[in-house]
Amino acid sequence: MSTPAAHTPSAFNRKNPLIARVPLRRLLSEGCEEKDTWHIEIDLQGSGLTYEPGDSMAILPTNCPDYASDLLGALGFSGEELVKDPEGLEVPVKEALINSFAISQPDRKFMAKLVEKAGESASGLASLLDPEKKEELNQYLWGREIIDLVVEHPNAKWEPQEFVDILKKLTVRLYSIASSLAAKPNQCHLTVAAVRYQSHGRKRKGVCSTFLADRIDSTTRIPCFVTPGKAFRLPPQDDPSPVIMCGPGTGVAPFRAFVQERQATGAKGPAWLFFGEIHEATCFFYHEEWQAALADGSLTKLTTAFSRDQKEKIYVHHRMKQEGAELWQWLENGAIFYVCGDASRMAVDVDKALHEIIAEHGGRSVEEATAYVEQMKKDKRYRRDVY
Ligand SMILES: Cc1cc2nc3c(=O)[nH]c(=O)nc-3n(C[C@H](O)[C@H](O)[C@H](O)COP(=O)(O)OP(=O)(O)OC[C@H]3O[C@@H](n4cnc5c(N)ncnc54)[C@H](O)[C@@H]3O)c2cc1C
Ligand SMILES: NC(=O)c1ccc[n+]([C@@H]2O[C@H](COP(=O)([O-])OP(=O)(O)OC[C@H]3O[C@@H](n4cnc5c(N)ncnc54)[C@H](OP(=O)(O)O)[C@@H]3O)[C@@H](O)[C@H]2O)c1
Repeated sequence: MSTPAAHTPSAFNRKNPLIARVPLRRLLSEGCEEKDTWHIEIDLQGSGLTYEPGDSMAILPTNCPDYASDLLGALGFSGEELVKDPEGLEVPVKEALINSFAISQPDRKFMAKLVEKAGESASGLASLLDPEKKEELNQYLWGREIIDLVVEHPNAKWEPQEFVDILKKLTVRLYSIASSLAAKPNQCHLTVAAVRYQSHGRKRKGVCSTFLADRIDSTTRIPCFVTPGKAFRLPPQDDPSPVIMCGPGTGVAPFRAFVQERQATGAKGPAWLFFGEIHEATCFFYHEEWQAALADGSLTKLTTAFSRDQKEKIYVHHRMKQEGAELWQWLENGAIFYVCGDASRMAVDVDKALHEIIAEHGGRSVEEATAYVEQMKKDKRYRRDVY
């Protein structure tokens, strides 16, 4: 690694990440049993690394050492056996499993090798490798990890090098940047939800989110680099276009960056934030900052949806529809609509609500509402950052 001061921002990338300290981490969902969401601050001091609100930070994690030990135990390896890592360096297999290889989610290549090595005991799996059975294979693999397959097929005997050779390289995860350099020089903040679930009788945890939540402290240095958000940008400082930001859960991260930037630069147009989480008392992330932003005018309006504080679910798209008449006025005044967070459910429902609001309050037919949204996309007034 060369001296940080010598770098321009673009000098940091996958091959040459910034190795940064994380001086501060704070649990945002304090007192909530169902959520484990963290505020993370990365120190950029002296690195020369810069970013724009709307960019994401790529983080290269390490695997949980306990996971690696369990896998070694299932494979019958001591952990000291030497293997070549992806860079061709000879290291103990335990070290390679912690630092270099993806050891959680099995892929097709892994399954094919397992079927070949396990013989009869894996014959039921062989048919899932038929390219036409992609969906069945995905269903079978959902919630299963490499260790499950190793344990279920003990007659597949692996050599350490042969085993690591079929694993993918451990790769970065992206996190929306939750701060603005104009407001927080030399810092990069993230909002990270730890992925934890139970499947097939085992407790599981996401590699990078729990690396950040559980396995680092202020002395750890993490490899990271910026990936540009391209279209996910605030309007220029002197552009008075209204902005509507819809960011439930960790989706609020880029909007914290937007509001900080608006505060620091004295943005002109109005701004409306829709935020949702499960409980107001424990998961109203950055609550005090939104209140301050409302007071100083960098945020004009805040609408919240706390899904589990009452019997029926209330989500951000329900609130959008309740506020449909005003939201339509903002759109007609040229508002840019941003959405960030869960792609599979939330962003779909928010998109549907947007169409319905345009139809109902704009007096448009279904087709005309679709055309209106299409035009918003063409005009870059509908911007999505969903995952
Ligand atoms: C542009 C972008 C911005 C992002 N911004 C943020 C952000 O600001 N904050 C944030 O927290 N995340 C963000 N993410 C998501 C983040 O990149 C990671 O995907 C997330 O943290 C999970 O990574 P992980 O390594 O912890 O989990 P992994 O080890 O990658 O595990 C995730 C995998 O576990 C499996 N899985 C998960 N849940 C279940 C379940 N219930 N049952 C069965 N299997 C399951 C699935 O196969 C899933 O793909 C963003 C993603 C993108 C692309
Ligand atoms: N597997 C895990 O343990 C785990 C943990 C964290 C994050 N994740 C994934 O990471 C992503 C982001 O998670 P996150 O923690 O930021 O928040 P999230 O899971 O997206 O939840 C944020 C809020 O959105 C609500 N919500 C659920 N469905 C919605 C919908 N259709 N429309 C609008 N709002 C909806 C949630 O309510 P309810 O939850 O009450 O329905 C919650 O109040 C998601 O893709 C999530 O699946 C997974």
